[in-house]
Amino acid sequence: MKALVLKRYGKPDQVTFADIPRPQPGPDELLVQVHAAGLNPVDNMIAKGLFKPVLPLQLPATMGSDLSGVVVEVGSRVTRFKPGDAVFASIFDRSGTGALAELARVPESAAAPKPANLDFVQAASIPMVGLTSWQALKERAQLKPGQKVFIPAGAGGIGTFAIQLAKYFGAKVGTTTSTGNIDLVRSLGADEVVDYKTHQFEDVLRNYDAVLGTVRGDAIEKSLRILKAGSTVVSLVGPPDAAFARARGMNFLMVLVFGLLSRKIIRLASRRGVAYSFLFVRPDGSRLAEIGGLLEAESIRPVIDKVFPFEQAKDALSYLGQGRAKGKVVVQMR
Ligand SMILES: NC(=O)c1ccc[n+]([C@@H]2O[C@H](COP(=O)([O-])OP(=O)(O)OC[C@H]3O[C@@H](n4cnc5c(N)ncnc54)[C@H](OP(=O)(O)O)[C@@H]3O)[C@@H](O)[C@H]2O)c1
Repeated sequence: MKALVLKRYGKPDQVTFADIPRPQPGPDELLVQVHAAGLNPVDNMIAKGLFKPVLPLQLPATMGSDLSGVVVEVGSRVTRFKPGDAVFASIFDRSGTGALAELARVPESAAAPKPANLDFVQAASIPMVGLTSWQALKERAQLKPGQKVFIPAGAGGIGTFAIQLAKYFGAKVGTTTSTGNIDLVRSLGADEVVDYKTHQFEDVLRNYDAVLGTVRGDAIEKSLRILKAGSTVVSLVGPPDAAFARARGMNFLMVLVFGLLSRKIIRLASRRGVAYSFLFVRPDGSRLAEIGGLLEAESIRPVIDKVFPFEQAKDALSYLGQGRAKGKVVVQMR
């Protein structure tokens, strides 16, 4: 079968199409005929080798994290799905086959029924941004109705989902975006919108209860200035902390390294009475099913920037890598 494969870390020419053997599902896995694969910045970062210590892949490895498709085979211990079921899933957190292929192995625990009102392209755009937003806003920040959350980069994949989810939780949302995307983020429910081309968000926003860290550089440090004491920063972009290294079962040295990397931001945050943590999303089919319910109820809508045919999957990754996507970039197989 045809797959987009990473042969070696580091160089774009090491990502190529290949004809690889049909994957065999394990006892707890589904074999899914992939209809569409949603792209995420992590896909490019994995190819560059930036995740080697966290997600060591056996190369060559099939690329791609998020997918939607139809179950064609199930392993002997699978109970919740059968051939013919339409599903969606995030499958990045393991070695093996990825989403950018004609067929993919999907752990039963990562899969959820595809929301009936979404087509396959729309469904493939959801899993990682949906799970990340839920795990950050609900599980870590424990966002409550009436609280204020700052979600920078509101026009991106995470932003377009997280703004809608925070509004669903009853929160008020502040965001940043460039001038051309102001109407988009307002249409998703953002209450306070800062055009980062003309204003610094830390001069405008005040009294926030939580920050979702989505922008690299000094944005997280600056965001401490807009927070109340007792609030929370959940960073998706680092620095990773010791708790993350421990949770991933890393060795003592890595726990120490990550502890050192995050020491400064944790110290600055705690001086203001703010709790800092790094979140690394985990696949979770049950939560994804719940998120699917929000899409079926039209509490949240998918926002898709561009759809590429499978033959142009490398172009799709380059396009996403420019960092200007308005919502999600999806590759369509069928
Ligand atoms: N830790 C985890 O588990 C996890 C999970 C998912 C994602 N992430 C990370 O979260 C980050 C965001 O992901 P994503 O999927 O949203 O990426 P994305 O879709 O590629 O983000 C693109 C968006 O970022 C906006 N943007 C770029 N620079 C900005 C700035 N300085 N201020 C405000 N907006 C800016 C752009 O809007 P404009 O064109 O208007 O500038 C564009 O809409 C990535 O670094 C990703 O790796 C981490």
